[in-house]
Amino acid sequence: MHRTNPGRFSLVWLLTGILIGCQPQPPVGKTFLQAAVVTAHPLATAVGVQILQDGGNAVDAMVGVHFALAVVYPQAGNLGGGGFMVQRDADGRVHTLNFREKAPMAAYRDMYLDSLGNAIGELSRRGHLAVGVPGSVAGMWAAHDSLGQLPWPRLVQPAIALAAQGFPLTKKEAEALNAKLETFRAYNRFQHPLWEAEAWQPGDSIRLPALARTLIAVRDSGTAGFYAGWVADSIVAEMQGGTGIMTHDDLQAYDASWQAPIRGNYRGHEIISMGPPSSGGVALMQLLRMIEPYPLGEYGWHSPEAIHLMAEAERRVYADRAKHLGDPDFWPVPVAQLLDSAYLRERMAGFSPTQATPSDSIEAGAFSRVESPQTTHYSIVDADGMAVAVTTTLNSGYGSGVMVQGAGFFLNNEMDDFSAKPGVPNIYGLLGAEANAVAPGKRMLSSMTPTIVTQGDSLLMVVGTPGGATIITSVFQNIVNVIDHGMGMQASVEAPRFHHQWRPDQISYEAGGFPAKTAQALEQLGHTLATRRAIGRVDAILVLPNGHLETGADPRGDDFADGF
Ligand code: DON
Repeated sequence: MHRTNPGRFSLVWLLTGILIGCQPQPPVGKTFLQAAVVTAHPLATAVGVQILQDGGNAVDAMVGVHFALAVVYPQAGNLGGGGFMVQRDADGRVHTLNFREKAPMAAYRDMYLDSLGNAIGELSRRGHLAVGVPGSVAGMWAAHDSLGQLPWPRLVQPAIALAAQGFPLTKKEAEALNAKLETFRAYNRFQHPLWEAEAWQPGDSIRLPALARTLIAVRDSGTAGFYAGWVADSIVAEMQGGTGIMTHDDLQAYDASWQAPIRGNYRGHEIISMGPPSSGGVALMQLLRMIEPYPLGEYGWHSPEAIHLMAEAERRVYADRAKHLGDPDFWPVPVAQLLDSAYLRERMAGFSPTQATPSDSIEAGAFSRVESPQTTHYSIVDADGMAVAVTTTLNSGYGSGVMVQGAGFFLNNEMDDFSAKPGVPNIYGLLGAEANAVAPGKRMLSSMTPTIVTQGDSLLMVVGTPGGATIITSVFQNIVNVIDHGMGMQASVEAPRFHHQWRPDQISYEAGGFPAKTAQALEQLGHTLATRRAIGRVDAILVLPNGHLETGADPRGDDFADGF
């Protein structure tokens, strides 16, 4: 039973209810008998559900959702970005697919440094030089080719219809676009429907005919419709018109790759997640194994003891991430050593329940043989029990801000996920070193953590989120919320979140997320606290003991669950 401690979280809600004088009801997600889809946008969710109803499997729904998000959720949904898929069949077979962007072949180690050796953050964040070779179309194609069921054109068509016929803007999307209108005009010297308005209003309708044409090329020619032909020509022309370095050869050479998942156990459950070049699976597994010896359920959800323990594990894990994680095709990531039980015990040997460990006293583990706001997540379960978790991104909102003229899609700024210079933080404040230095053809390190949890032979949870550095700790908290604190999926997704990433040495938490007493208790243990805006947008599905599916759609965004 995953509901190891059902009473404790209810008690939190009861007390909260009494304190604020309203009905003490934890949020309950929608439940479905057979199949469910949770994505960042209601229109993308509808596309996925329709594909499942038409006999498609979870991978078919994934393809439809991915392309629909590229239209209706342009800040993170994408053709010009990349991501990771974790998939599990009903019979327990697992596949993980890496469609992360790569550095162009003309990229080099110090490309974001000035002549004095100082990092120029803007260069890896905005504009043409920030762009990595996109992986999404190759990823969707590879997944469908091996695991899909319905014909490819059927899956791309709904996105074409949305782009050609237009779709209404949500309030959040209108606000997000308005905040970026100046950037779009600065980096794109042409007119486009996304920046034609003075200010977008909720409900305004946008049609994207150039994007529809690109999607038609992808529908009709698959990967060749994107990595060759007129779309590839447009991407290369866009690069040449700016400061970009991506070439036809880079596009032709791009390949999505199947790789082994990270698998491990936590309190009798199996965790299946993404391996390097995502740091997500390794870091998540380290975190769970480090806290496993402690009775988290007894401590109580968001008790100072629980937060302290989790934050102490987090600071140790992020120190390892900064030093040891990178693209395994270029750097020997010591996965086995990082997940070794004796090593993890030793990492926590200095943990004190009564005192925070200053981050300055923590370095990455040393091994004798070390050779050297925007992303989006969607979770799908089909009627046969196949589960898919995908996290995909352009990196920050609308990526590099560069749209491919004539082809109507934004290009990523994923190059910022490399370590431009050891010790210089990236946009998420993350540090890196040699393991994650820029090199031609190399994939930049990611935190994306699409994850599937099982119990015995059965599916238990599908989970993931955007949020840069906070992705790993948000997935961590949602697994702990369900397994240790007995929360339902929606309650877990809505619960306030916190985060520690080693440096800066602080626990950041969502404003209002800790009662004053909890904050004081943590400060007394020696922690520095900082409030921040919303952390992540978790979209998840939980299989309930009766076999029904409870969804968790994050109210921090427009995220929406549906199914049947
Ligand atoms: O791959 C990564 O870890 C980052 N590019 C993810 C960026 C992200 O989550 C931004 N969203 N809020």
